Order: sequence, then structure tokens, then C-alpha cells
Amino acid sequence: MNPPLTRSQLAQLDHDDPLAPCRERFLLPEGVIYLDGNSLGALVKTVPARVQQAVVQEWGQGLIRSWNDAGWYPAPQRIGAAIAALIGAQAHEVVACDSTSVNLFKVLIGALQLRPGRRVILGELGNFPTDMYVASGVAELMGAELRCVAPDELEQAIAQAGDALAVVTLTHVNYKTGRLYDMAGITAAAHRVGGLVAWDLAHSAGTLPVQLNACAVDLAVGCGYKYLNGGPGAPAFVYVAEQHLAQVRSPIAGWHGHAQPFAFTQGYEPHPGIDRMLVGTAPQLAMVALEEALSAFQGVEMAQLRRKGMALGDLFIRLVDEQLAGHGFGVASPRDAAQRGSQVALTHEHGYAIMQALIARGVIGDFRAPDILRFGFAGLYVRYVDIWDAVATLKAVMDSAEWRQPAFMARKAVT
Ligand SMILES: Cc1ncc(COP(=O)(O)O)c(C=O)c1O
Repeated sequence: MNPPLTRSQLAQLDHDDPLAPCRERFLLPEGVIYLDGNSLGALVKTVPARVQQAVVQEWGQGLIRSWNDAGWYPAPQRIGAAIAALIGAQAHEVVACDSTSVNLFKVLIGALQLRPGRRVILGELGNFPTDMYVASGVAELMGAELRCVAPDELEQAIAQAGDALAVVTLTHVNYKTGRLYDMAGITAAAHRVGGLVAWDLAHSAGTLPVQLNACAVDLAVGCGYKYLNGGPGAPAFVYVAEQHLAQVRSPIAGWHGHAQPFAFTQGYEPHPGIDRMLVGTAPQLAMVALEEALSAFQGVEMAQLRRKGMALGDLFIRLVDEQLAGHGFGVASPRDAAQRGSQVALTHEHGYAIMQALIARGVIGDFRAPDILRFGFAGLYVRYVDIWDAVATLKAVMDSAEWRQPAFMARKAVT
């Protein structure tokens, strides 16, 4: 057995961490340990001034001229290109727009249309609710069949669906357990039977090296406000592999997806490229915030970020094992870092109240019903000592039983 760790060993790891300077790119509140960047990323320091400039100068002074003069109009494509660099895609395969839910709707309908005669949508039991709801809505609308199976049964279910399989829809990292799917293996299995894949990158884009092109992924969507730090409700993104760009159709034929939006023609003609996945006018202030936030990734090597995310997760699990034994916690995430995204889920029957008590002490994670305490480790700003302090705080919350206070039991709207 390893000797127990000390805080000063972890301070040394921070000292040696090549990513440590990236923390300076963020505005983090004093006295807070933020372990929820997998839900809402932290504020990048330069974003407030950039948004202020967009409001006061570009909107206030430039007015409608800013669509051309301030580069507003091509922002979705420009941001798409920046995100593409983080997810192993080509610049012209990604565009920033709408929400993850809406983009998933678009790509699932698009996938069914790309595979006429095939009617099975295959998904994961326990996927994030929006993914389940959207897939089931699409199945109903398109006369398709949604089959959801346990993660370990996927490859078998793909083979079973065979030439009826239209598309496999999965979240790369499960929102609750943090389990990381084998993107290359599952994509290849779907392709072997002639099906497509549509990956939701909500919990992987911006924290681990996603390889969409190398894995031959057909379609993907992802979130702008988690590890990409774009701000609450930031625009999402959609990816369509180059080979499908000419054929895929969005079910929402809005004017920004038209080949020539400003020709104002009556008939719809989809744009030849990724713009066809656009719908309407982009929310510029949110686009500006997201674009500026992406500057936090300058010079960051995703493989290095991945190594740190794995190490932080391993450290958290080790400290929980060492310091919280006997307090009723379980580990719901894979213990093997290679099979886990940048988050760790603990289970506890009083998880909600415990998380509230923890937040009251300045350690912010979140709760997912029925019993999951979720901790995210965004390697750009979370330090090794933060993990030590977070677990020590959790121990204090448990030892003192302060989570039993009635105030911590009252459920808030957002958990
Ligand atoms: C896997 C996954 N997909 C999608 C979403 C959110 O979708 P939207 O931004 O449309 O609310 C989340 C939010 O947590 C998520 O975890």
C-alpha cells in the first residue's frame, strides 16, 4: 500500500505542472474551489472587456453595420473552426449555433435521411435526459425505433440491429458516471453494419483529445458552456464530416442555412457546406463571449490536459478512499482513468444535502438525482491542492454532520 499523501506533495505537483499558468487566464472567486466546470465553465478573464466592447462599441456605435464591420456575420463559422481544432475536425466541418439539444435533433433527423430504409436509432440507457428525449421525439416523428441498451451491450446491439441500424447516438462521456466511451471502436462497429454515429461531446470537448476525423465520426454535437467556458447558455456546436456535407439536410430550413441568405429567394436551397446546419440569426453577444473564452486554450496541448484530468480524478478517488472510509460514499465512476472523462461521481444516500453543505463551505460540485455527487476537474484551472482541500472539506462536512441542517435539505430548482 502507498503511504498516505501529504498536501505539500500536491503543492509540488502544482509547481511542476506545465498547465499551472493557465489558471491565470480565469477569474475565480476568492475562497472557492470550483469543481463544476463540467457543468458551467469558469469565467475567462478577458471575456468581460470583450463583451463590454461588443455591447458599447459594436452594438451601441456600430449598430447594424457591425454585422459586416465587426465580423459578426461569420462568427458561427469562425468559432466553429476554433472548436474544430480542439475536437480533431477540419475547420469547415464545425459551426457554432443553437443549443446542444437543437443540434442533436438536427443531426439525428439528418442521419435518418442519410440512411433511408433503416429505422433503428440506438442509444445508451442512462444517457443525459435531453439526448433520450430528443432521440425518442425524433423516432416518433420519423417512424423510427429507438433502442436503448446498457453501455456494455452496445456492440452486441449494433450487430443485432445490422442493416436496420440508421444511427448510434451516444454521449462520449456519460454525464453522471463519467464513463468514457471508445469512440473509435463504436464508430467502427456502426460502420461495419452500414450505420452512422452521432456523438454528443458535451463532457469531452475542451477537456480531452477528441479525434472526430481520425475515428471517422459522421456527426457530432457539443456544448459551449461546459469545458469550453463560453458562459451560461453559450451557443453549442455541430459537426458534419466532410463526406456527408453535400447530402445531409437539416430539418429546420432556416434562412441562415440557405446557400444565399441575402438573395431573399422564395425557395430553399441549402448551403453547400456546414452553414446548412444553421437556422437563424446568431446570438452575437453570446458568440462574442464564447469566442473570447476559447482564447484560454491558446498553446494548450489537449493530451497534456487529458493527462492532468486523469491525474486529478485519480487523486480525488485515492483521497476519498483514504479519508472518507466509513462515511457511506461509493464511487460511481470507473476507477480506471483511461475509461473515465474529467469527472468523478460519488454516491451517497444523502448526496443532495451533503453537496449543499459542501457548497456552503466554498467547494462547488453538483448533485444529480437520485444519489450522485458530481465533481469535475477542468485542468486549465483546477490545482492538485484544490483536490486535497476539497476532500478535506468534505471530510469536515461529514465528521461534523453539518449536512443534516434543515437548510441543506431544501431542494433548489437547479441541483
Ligand atoms: C450530455 C449532455 N447533452 C446536452 C446537454 C445540454 O443540452 P442543452 O445545452 O441543449 O441544454 C447536457 C447538459 O448538461 C449534457 O450533459
